[in-house]
Amino acid sequence: MYLNLNNRTIANILHFKSIDSTNSYLMSEAKKGMPSWTVTIADHQTNGRGRLGRRFESEDQSGLYMSVLIRDIESFDPTLLTVIASVSVCEAIEAFSNKQMTIKWVNDILFEGKKVCGILTEGAFNDNKISYAVVGVGINISKPQNGYPEDIKNIADAVFDNYSTELRDQIAHEILSRLENYVNCYIHDEILSKYKSRSCVVGKNVTVLGHMNPFNAVVCDFNSDFSLKVVTEDGITMSLRSGEISIKI
Ligand code: BTN
Repeated sequence: MYLNLNNRTIANILHFKSIDSTNSYLMSEAKKGMPSWTVTIADHQTNGRGRLGRRFESEDQSGLYMSVLIRDIESFDPTLLTVIASVSVCEAIEAFSNKQMTIKWVNDILFEGKKVCGILTEGAFNDNKISYAVVGVGINISKPQNGYPEDIKNIADAVFDNYSTELRDQIAHEILSRLENYVNCYIHDEILSKYKSRSCVVGKNVTVLGHMNPFNAVVCDFNSDFSLKVVTEDGITMSLRSGEISIKI
């Protein structure tokens, strides 16, 4: 495969034609001591996973399905890896297309309101401290041959009309060099401003999900710790660190 990463951070890039999930593979190999910055890329996945136990469509060879194992994160809160990966993915896609990506809190990358990429960050803890994390990126480079399944066909899209492994590998390369740079030289204000400027949720009426009961709110801003500042219909200001929102049209 074409991946000319001549930096010193990336330990190894493992390529699979087919695998259940690149995230599952790295999470289990990490336990056995696989080195930091090992990358796995699969042509397709038989059990691609998304957040909240969802399935991620990746059986067709039409996307970038990649995971990165990162250990020893010290200079920032490891839960920010999803944020850092989101910025890296947007910049990488934009470097290969003239399309402007937006970020839907917390882990979806959209183009013109439709999801083109999802990010799944998983971690293992030791003594309440994260010992390693796996960042998984799934980008719809082109539409699957048989189209998207019924349940996502109105909300999913692809970045390009055609897929090639060269294009996939170039985008992977671009993401990895940005991710490496942002992780190794983390500058809080830079990431916050890049993340905020791409957010498509500020000012929007949303339904907040993932809590005991869904509730409606307006998104005001991001706090400096990247939590989402919302005001509920009862006028209560809340900061959300996790969960999910659906944008009301
Ligand atoms: C989401 O949309 O909720 C996140 C989707 C993340 C998908 C990627 S594809 C590569 C890696 N392997 C997985 O099983 N999931 C992630």
